[in-house]
Amino acid sequence: MNRIAVLTSGGDAPGMNAAIRAVVRSGLENDWEVFGVRGGYSGLVAGDLVQMRARDVGGIIQRGGTVLGSARCLDFHVETTRQKALAHMEQWGIGGLVVIGGNGSQTGANALSEMGFPTVGVASTIDNDLLGSEITIGVDTALNIALEAIDRLKVTASSHRRGFLVEVMGRRCGYLALMAGIAGGAELVVVPEIEMTPPQVADALREAYARGKQHAVAVVAEGATYDAATLVTYFKKHEESLGFELRATILGHVQRGGEPTAYDRILGTRLGAGAVDALARGEHGVVVGMNQSKVTTTPLAEIVGKTKSIDPDLFKLAKVLER
Ligand code: F6P
Repeated sequence: MNRIAVLTSGGDAPGMNAAIRAVVRSGLENDWEVFGVRGGYSGLVAGDLVQMRARDVGGIIQRGGTVLGSARCLDFHVETTRQKALAHMEQWGIGGLVVIGGNGSQTGANALSEMGFPTVGVASTIDNDLLGSEITIGVDTALNIALEAIDRLKVTASSHRRGFLVEVMGRRCGYLALMAGIAGGAELVVVPEIEMTPPQVADALREAYARGKQHAVAVVAEGATYDAATLVTYFKKHEESLGFELRATILGHVQRGGEPTAYDRILGTRLGAGAVDALARGEHGVVVGMNQSKVTTTPLAEIVGKTKSIDPDLFKLAKVLER
């Protein structure tokens, strides 16, 4: 093998650029030529590849998003679509592919691998819902952005004695909400893994003020059974159940776009380089992740189609700290 390609796929995550840079420079270190695929799997299907040299990835480590562009290519689950991608890689003489992305992207990587193409995944999603890595690229930055918002909202919550709901992303995983709640000192965390009804949310917020707290802030995961919008609608109809005003802030994509923290730059760098190392030793069909502070590989077939859940002990700890 003397040529590899790299793509970023799915939701952009701060730290993806660090991973791209590490793939390019580590690939060059192996005397390979490295090609970037523009626009994720859609770019691979269209044959949109560009050669990347050391200087092409200069000045990108501090930038959020992905210089290669990303996409959600729903067609990629169709075998004939993947065959088009493989045909382009054959045409370009590409012998290995690095896929930087989350669950959907690694499902695509696994499919390519099962079709016989040497493919290695890099664990990257702000949701931290991917198995095979204790922490994924982008989580730390997204968490810090959520935290800044929570800190600010607590100030207004205290000044006005209002209830606040802060909705964070995370798909069906409550990791971001739980960690933001713990780090932000929230009065309540609402996650998809543990159902909480609107009256239970009302009780928790009311009791926070009753216990003499200065603010009543709940961090709500977007995937919770009752998300922020549903809770707001409920409390408009049942104003009496709270006894104070409630406001909701949905952070949404604001969490994805920040400049990567030092942690995400280093994580992206180590996982990107780890992917090249795996290809160099002939290991593929795996996702490169970080486990117990070590760069590890886990077979893609073992992790795709599953979702990582929150640690129940951390949820218990959050409950203890809410008092
Ligand atoms: O997977 C990352 C993520 O930001 C999720 O937290 C969120 O549910 C989803 O992507 C949003 O997707 P899109 O950017 O396609 O709207």
